[in-house]
Amino acid sequence: MATTPTNAYQVIDHTYDVVVVGAGGAGLRATFGMAEQGLKTACITKVFPTRSHTVAAQGGVSAALGNMGEDDWRYHMYDTVKGSDWLGDQDAIEYMCREAIPAIIELEHYGLPFSRTAEGKIYQRAFGGMTTQFGKGQAYRTCAAADRTGHAMLHTLYQQSLKYEAEFYIELFALDLMMEDGVCRGVVAWNLDDGTIHRFRAHLVVLATGGYGRTYFSCTSAHTCTGDGNAMVARAGLPLQDMEFVQFHPTGIYGAGCLITEGVRGEGGYLTNNEGERFMERYAPSAKDLASRDVVSRSMTIEIREGRGVGSGHDHIYLHLEHLDADMIHSRLPGIAETARIFAGVDVTKEPIPVLPTVHYNMGGVPTNRFTEVVAPTKDDPDAVVPGLMAIGEAACVSVHGANRLGSNSLLDLVVFGRAAAHRAGEILKGNGANGHHKALPADAGENAIARLDHIRHNKQEIRTADLRMEMQRTMQNNCAVFRTGEVLQEGVDKLGQVWSKRGGMGVEDKSMIWNSDLVETLELDNLMIQAVATMHSANNRLESRGAHAREDFPERNDDEWMKHTVIWVDEKGKSTIDFRPVHMTPMTNDVQAFPPKARVY
Ligand code: FUM
Repeated sequence: MATTPTNAYQVIDHTYDVVVVGAGGAGLRATFGMAEQGLKTACITKVFPTRSHTVAAQGGVSAALGNMGEDDWRYHMYDTVKGSDWLGDQDAIEYMCREAIPAIIELEHYGLPFSRTAEGKIYQRAFGGMTTQFGKGQAYRTCAAADRTGHAMLHTLYQQSLKYEAEFYIELFALDLMMEDGVCRGVVAWNLDDGTIHRFRAHLVVLATGGYGRTYFSCTSAHTCTGDGNAMVARAGLPLQDMEFVQFHPTGIYGAGCLITEGVRGEGGYLTNNEGERFMERYAPSAKDLASRDVVSRSMTIEIREGRGVGSGHDHIYLHLEHLDADMIHSRLPGIAETARIFAGVDVTKEPIPVLPTVHYNMGGVPTNRFTEVVAPTKDDPDAVVPGLMAIGEAACVSVHGANRLGSNSLLDLVVFGRAAAHRAGEILKGNGANGHHKALPADAGENAIARLDHIRHNKQEIRTADLRMEMQRTMQNNCAVFRTGEVLQEGVDKLGQVWSKRGGMGVEDKSMIWNSDLVETLELDNLMIQAVATMHSANNRLESRGAHAREDFPERNDDEWMKHTVIWVDEKGKSTIDFRPVHMTPMTNDVQAFPPKARVY
């Protein structure tokens, strides 16, 4: 396949105890947690750490601190299980909700500049689906640094990382895992700055590569959110999990897709249709505008479909905050006021923001246990661990979010499971694990990665990357949307088959190895296509409605047949194989009882 011998590339070898791929919130928390324990740790990242997509998170990070009213981690756990539509693993959810409290205090001690109450406590706002007393009251649980919480968190974590001796490899693009007999032995990366190839041998590789929002045309995700880790896992012959569950955030700016935080509704903002009606009162009489995101996005879509959308095309919805105190907006929501001014031309103290549900988060990803170890089901063991490989953050499917994530549980997931990965690595590597000894790599380690890069670099270009990407993104946008039917999904499967058939014609005009963004984007598209296929095929296969997966032809949740995780393998021809893993219904400890499935009422 390769037109240039792989030995034409300058290959540089490294050896570490742990290599973390990705430097967003999860990657940084894992990186310094590893280094803090004396593990020789490298972090590889395709963008400078403080440019990672975590920087864009706005509204906050959840934890039952109870600073603004009663709260309990059990209430948080119940909300998360209910929000997940009973597809979340209850052991992992218990772990996350309990650990939320020390994790946030730890962040405070690291210097994260949280907004404060009058008494000086961490400020907490209301968010969708967050309740007290198991659904009875409104919780104030989302710890906020104004509406720039992700920015504050990312900078705090990067500063901590610099305290320890973790080594950063910045602007290196990870190409593929090095696998040997089912064990992950390391990762291969391309240095964008000087064109060299790097083989990182490690006892543990931790994937913290984020989501794959860019499979869609309109999303709140950065251009870098191409799910590179998920694609590496799929190419290694391992499955992805629950890929059909794609979250649409109710309030992306109409036309631009930029995020307007749910914190707006947490501070008293509300949605209206073209009759000026606060329509969420009809769909969710109790939670109203603070129902979970799947519910709000569907309600908005129905309003638009039934002709009650606003604007000349009746194709969006208004989000109001002009009734709120302007001083409060300037202190608690300054970022979205600026975003609305720049991207919608709106002064939020005077007029509503035009908004539309926009792809925001991937509940699915690389399946892991609650210790962050990657699992791949075998005939005998649905939870079989893949030695040497871990995944955290949006790349992972732990699964704490199940079929639908609650707002502000994502920043929490990053820090709790970033920390958990470091703890687990310490147990494995400093306990009875590798004891510092590194086996030699196989002679051909990494050649598959170099061959793939080389093939794309020298292939005859028959289709431009931007054109093929647009075809894929339009297909995902139209055929795997908020509401789905078998007919539309099958059309999506067929259209993605056509996209895949053009993959062989992908190539680049610029053949250089230094700052070749054409080549980066083509490799990213190669990664995205695997995940688009996994998402569309999984959605077509799941014959029920659950969380963010709303099938109009199967409108009910069907616990008898479908309360199970989808696992999907995608091969090099774009063909998929689907199987299932059981949902963990038993909590981690006896401190809380399992929450059995019941109908979701708002
Ligand atoms: O609306 C928001 O601020 C987004 C938060 C989240 O996705 O967790």
